[in-house]
Amino acid sequence: MASPPDTSKSLKLLRYQSYIRRVNSSKFLKASSKILFRSTLIAALILIIFFTIHNPPISSQSPHFHSHTNFLSSALFGRGGAAWEKQVHRSAKPDRPGGMTVLVTGAAGFIGAHCSLALKKRGEGVLGLDNFNDYYDPSLKRARQALLSKHEIFIVEGDLNDKPLLIKLFDVVPFTHVLHLAAQAGVRYAMQNPQSYVASNVAGFVNLLEVCKDVNPQPAIVWASSSSVYGLNTENPFSELHRTDQPASLYAATKKAGEEIAHTYNHIYGLSLTGLRFFTVYGPWGRPDMAYFFFTKDILQGKTIDVYQTQEDKEVARDFTYIDDVVKGCVGALDTAEKSTGSGGKKRGPAQLRVYNLGNTSPVPVGKLVAILEGLLNVKAKKHVIRMPRNGDVPFTHANVSLANRDFGYKPTTDLAAGLRKFVKWYVGYYGVQLGAKKGNN
Ligand SMILES: NC(=O)c1ccc[n+]([C@@H]2O[C@H](COP(=O)([O-])OP(=O)(O)OC[C@H]3O[C@@H](n4cnc5c(N)ncnc54)[C@H](O)[C@@H]3O)[C@@H](O)[C@H]2O)c1
Repeated sequence: MASPPDTSKSLKLLRYQSYIRRVNSSKFLKASSKILFRSTLIAALILIIFFTIHNPPISSQSPHFHSHTNFLSSALFGRGGAAWEKQVHRSAKPDRPGGMTVLVTGAAGFIGAHCSLALKKRGEGVLGLDNFNDYYDPSLKRARQALLSKHEIFIVEGDLNDKPLLIKLFDVVPFTHVLHLAAQAGVRYAMQNPQSYVASNVAGFVNLLEVCKDVNPQPAIVWASSSSVYGLNTENPFSELHRTDQPASLYAATKKAGEEIAHTYNHIYGLSLTGLRFFTVYGPWGRPDMAYFFFTKDILQGKTIDVYQTQEDKEVARDFTYIDDVVKGCVGALDTAEKSTGSGGKKRGPAQLRVYNLGNTSPVPVGKLVAILEGLLNVKAKKHVIRMPRNGDVPFTHANVSLANRDFGYKPTTDLAAGLRKFVKWYVGYYGVQLGAKKGNN
């Protein structure tokens, strides 16, 4: 009998071929998943580069940047992102050995922008903080921001009441000094929006001090009080020894509260604190809510301006102080500020606590201010002389600055006519105004 054909060999061959097919197909799968992985990676990189190019850092963004922000760019440039931290570092790094690292709050504001520039020019490290609120035209704050950014000063957009943000800033930079100028300014607006004064000038200040007392090293703090704390004081010129317990506005009351709060944080935590009482500061890049600024605007537009008289029909007068003099005073106060003595929330010894007037020492009646503007603008103002309403303004301010002179050589050098000339030059350039020949000599 013929034996059945031996199929075991062909079966083995078949099994072997199917095994080879499986191996090949898994190799193919592996290879194709590798290709897929790599191409996804490349696509992601391309996307990151694309978004990076199309979403510049926060500092150079328009006020409406939030609507354009996207996830990837905020991961890169948003607060706490790597690029953001780099900007913070770069801005706060001093250019000279042993230079200060200063956090300037309110850096997009009038005095804050000028002080930031002066400090940077001297080689100090400067980082700004500002919430860019719309109390007055925010485009002016953005223009100041653009000016600062040309000088490599970065302004972090944020609020004094944002504690995690403040903690983060001190995490990234061990600030030696804080120049605290952020506040709700303006006397009359306090009757319209009282809460904004409490939020920024009281709660915001306390929040800042809470963070400053906890960090190690604690910074020395120089901050803006105001001549308005003298309120209804009648002694002249105003001295730091005079009474300041009769504020005439909520603004003044919050600044006075700030001085008392400063005392407490100095006493309990050893924070070095210097309060500066500014007297009607004016100059280029100034504040549109102040009389010299809106008088200029209204006179140029042919509008009537209200010129106040006191209840006794006397002229209202102000100790107008030119911005460059105030900047010198702020820098002098920073230079002479001693270190805080506490650390990590504990006081280790007595610390410096100071208050200074920074004024011009020569009050000028508002009528004279108007006359100088008329001369500079070549326009006769339409004046409406009225009694000053009881809305927080005081009739007269006059600074005695002998303390600031003694301690850091403060000496104002610009009179109102010279300072207003510089202001008007800036104003016509900034707003593109053409000044005409003298008109209307009536
Ligand atoms: N200009 C003056 O004549 C004068 C006089 C006395 C006192 N001061 C004080 O000097 C300081 C600076 O005044 P200025 O004239 O430059 O005013 P400003 O309004 O131009 O500057 C203040 C800046 O602080 C910012 N800011 C306000 N609240 C904030 C908050 N909660 N968080 C973060 N930023 C905030 C604003 O956006 C603004 O840019 C203020 O404290 C003001 O009260 C000014």
